[in-house]
Amino acid sequence: MVVKIIKSFENDNMSMIYEIFELADRNEFKSYPDKIVANLFFEPSTRTHFSFKIAQAKMDMKSVSFTPEFSSMQKGETFIQTIKTFESFGVDLFVIRHKEDEYYKKINLNAPIINAGDGISSHPTQLLLDLYTIKKEFGSLSGLTVGIIGDVKHSRVAMSARRIMKKFGIKVLISGPPELIDIKDDCYVEFKKILPVCDVIMLLRIQHERHKLLFNAKNYNKFYGLNSENVLFLKNEAIIMHPGPCNIGMEITQKIFEHNKSRISEQVENGVKIRMALMQIVIEKKIDLLKL
Ligand code: CP
Repeated sequence: MVVKIIKSFENDNMSMIYEIFELADRNEFKSYPDKIVANLFFEPSTRTHFSFKIAQAKMDMKSVSFTPEFSSMQKGETFIQTIKTFESFGVDLFVIRHKEDEYYKKINLNAPIINAGDGISSHPTQLLLDLYTIKKEFGSLSGLTVGIIGDVKHSRVAMSARRIMKKFGIKVLISGPPELIDIKDDCYVEFKKILPVCDVIMLLRIQHERHKLLFNAKNYNKFYGLNSENVLFLKNEAIIMHPGPCNIGMEITQKIFEHNKSRISEQVENGVKIRMALMQIVIEKKIDLLKL
């Protein structure tokens, strides 16, 4: 029976998150040649899916990957029937992404689940690697200001960040076009005003798969994206992050992607270590990571 501990953020989860960070810092992980992990991605992914795959390879796990395009879902099989089929195969750990918010409430499995992103609700492993990247940069988290800019309304990355960062003493501000953000939100700050006050600028892409709003890339970049002109307004020590995938020329230009303030490649690099640390804790403690 799996005991679900990290279902939601509670006081004891704070220590669990620091435990994950310490394990990632030590960079010494156990080997699990007898464990089989199923990576079930019902939505497209490059970073999350393949950083899990690489993390599993580094820990000598056996892993299988699923994408619906080449599965019996094309013949009418449901999400739940698909998951249950993998459970019957005898899987030791599930990594699942799905477009539906809190999809995990519909399933009860005899192996732990790591949520690799659900709808616009939560992206726990992205939040962990983002916090870890920020902590490595600044030494600690408390007292920092993070500005999240872009399609905040449809972003599970923003949802997790806003839910959890404040628990670590981080002030979160948001900005972006009025169609993609609630300008009445207490945390809303105009684009021009947000740039000089943040330690971290976290850019988000427009989630075209979740709505039909269209934006001209050049205009968007001018008014809500980072470029060689407005990057000069950032604090000296500020860094630029982006969960990816980036739409180059829109929320970020190629020059800013490669800028010395950009930590986007470091986020991807840290994602492997963080997922290794997380899987070790999940396997050892037999817990799920469903929501952060
Ligand atoms: N950040 C993130 O979730 O990227 P992928 O969709 O490529 O996994």
